[in-house]
Amino acid sequence: MSKKLFIQTLGCAMNVRDSEHIIAELSKKEDYSLTEDIKEADLILINTCSVREKPVHKLFSEVGGFEKVKKEGAKIGVCGCTASHLGKEIFKRAPSVDFVLGARNISKIVQAVNTPKFLGVDLEYDESEFDFEDFRVNPYKTLINISIGCDKSCTYCIVPHTRGDEISIPFHIIEKEAKKAVEKGVKEIFLLGQNVNNYGKRFSNAHPRIDFSDLLQRLSEIENLERIRFTSPHPLHMDDKFLRVFSSNEKICKSMHMPLQSGSDEILKAMKRGYTKEWYLNRAFKLKELCPEVSISTDIIVAFPNESERDFEETMDVIERVRFEQIFSFKYSKRPLTKAALMPNQIDEKTASRRLTHLQNRHAEILDEIVATKKNAEVEVLFEELRAGNAVAGRTNTNFLVQTNGSEELLGQIKRVKITNPRRMVLYGEVV
Ligand code: 5AD
Ligand code: SF4
Repeated sequence: MSKKLFIQTLGCAMNVRDSEHIIAELSKKEDYSLTEDIKEADLILINTCSVREKPVHKLFSEVGGFEKVKKEGAKIGVCGCTASHLGKEIFKRAPSVDFVLGARNISKIVQAVNTPKFLGVDLEYDESEFDFEDFRVNPYKTLINISIGCDKSCTYCIVPHTRGDEISIPFHIIEKEAKKAVEKGVKEIFLLGQNVNNYGKRFSNAHPRIDFSDLLQRLSEIENLERIRFTSPHPLHMDDKFLRVFSSNEKICKSMHMPLQSGSDEILKAMKRGYTKEWYLNRAFKLKELCPEVSISTDIIVAFPNESERDFEETMDVIERVRFEQIFSFKYSKRPLTKAALMPNQIDEKTASRRLTHLQNRHAEILDEIVATKKNAEVEVLFEELRAGNAVAGRTNTNFLVQTNGSEELLGQIKRVKITNPRRMVLYGEVV
């Protein structure tokens, strides 16, 4: 009988993909199969995030919970970004943990499972790292890594310390993975990297040079592939060529993530983002001009050290002008190893909460206005998920969630839907 694997994934899409790699390796090479019942698991894994302090605390409370319910002899492994950053300290704080495997070491999962107290947290790499067995959670769309690590040094961010230098994955590997997925029926590929539009700057070996715009064009030539998405691009690298390719290539979904972080030039400088408010607005408006249907999402950090009311208003000003379809907003969280952690004038919790609430409330109003314009619109939806009450849900090209009546036979299909009842979180409609 096969052994059972329980895996919990925190954090971003890169972690979701890393978990898929772990599952693939363990099921093909060690005869594990997935379980959602932690009590029957022979191996319990948590794939961690360290971008803010909260998920790090969560790790230790979760491991405490695992100890209580796990069956006799079951192993516990900690993987991902917090594993990279805390390393062997995890064994000290949680002695029941059997192995610690950093984000850059996922390819060593089989070795980790078979070696007592295995610690794999180096930031080295070689190309064999990209060569995994295959497993995908979603049969209709698939995540594909195009680069690992990050070369930027944003002063608030721990990621360069957990995922190492930025290396682009050779094009032929990405193309092979995409083709294989499409042959199996995948309609949409989702390209992943910390900084996708910096693709092609550094490979681990001598490979033909190709930039992100060319990569998008080449992948769009794959027959039967319908949609291409990607995250995250960096506003600094949004040159005209990239915006033109994005706007004109029909297979590229018209939703763009443009992480702003702050609208204040002074804060942007202290964050080392490399652009100004003016540059950002220029890129956003150029994008809207080339591609009027685009929906733009962003990430914002409020209460970065030294952020004044004036600075915060600059951020709100960008929100009013760009009118983002989606905002992921966070209170600044002090992270070890980062420059910002040592900056004077850290902002108090009360001010941070007030700013975050203000921003989120205002954005909810903007979103209600945007969503109201969708009434009676006809959109194309890739259905990917069954919902309670004989319903199916999927995403529009512009990344809105749409739900209609329907069942299994709609899954994996792209259909035209008329929106009848647009709500903030879901647009309800009918297939036409
Ligand atoms: N505090 C708060 N938010 C952060 N992010 C990254 N580091 C921090 C931090 N120290 C946010 C950024 C990034 C997103 C993935 O997480 O907005 O774009
Ligand atoms: Fe993803 Fe960053 Fe969290 Fe790592 S620290 S899981 S890269 S969001």
